[in-house]
Order: sequence, then structure tokens, then C-alpha cells
Amino acid sequence: MRNSFSRMKAGVLLSETRVKNMDNEFLRQIDHASELLKETLDEKLEDDVLICECFCVNVRDIREACSEKAEVDLDLLRKRFSMGEGCQSCTKAASEWVNKIF
Ligand code: FES
Repeated sequence: MRNSFSRMKAGVLLSETRVKNMDNEFLRQIDHASELLKETLDEKLEDDVLICECFCVNVRDIREACSEKAEVDLDLLRKRFSMGEGCQSCTKAASEWVNKIF
């Protein structure tokens, strides 16, 4: 009885150690994933990425048009390129690309 209790106790200790190791590994992976996510969020788009397919406006066009303030001005892009006046998917998805221009 004592032996099985000791083994069981040892098994619980082993499990707790494994859980701690798993927790540490899991936390390390979460830290790594959040670093990758931040890098992805901070990543700027290449010049040739097409933002508005209807009017063929790419990132380079947007950077040149909005270079004075170094921030995306959707009204300016609409006036200059008619961007967003077709299917509007580019402007509806603006939150996905606006912060990746400058
Ligand atoms: S993709 Fe810009 S209006 Fe259609």
C-alpha cells in the first residue's frame, strides 16, 4: 500500500512537473507568437502591392500621393485616383492596409 501510494505520489509530482514544463513552453510560445504578430502588424507593404483593383492603385501611388503628410488621406486618394468609387472593397478594407503604408 505504501509503495503504490509513493508511486502515485511520485506520478502526481511527475505530472505537476510536466504541467509546469508544458505551461512554461506554452507561455514561451505565446510570447513568440505575440512578437511575430507585432512584427506582422508593423510590417510595411511593398510598393507594388495593389490596393485598389478597380482603379489600379498600388502602394507606391498612395505613398507618392500622401507623401506630404506621410499619412493616408482617403479623401485625397478618392479625388486623385477615384479610389473606392468602384466596388469599394479597397476602402472597406482600409483598416487592414492604412497602417502599413507609412
Ligand atoms: S478595389 Fe477600389 S473601388 Fe474596387
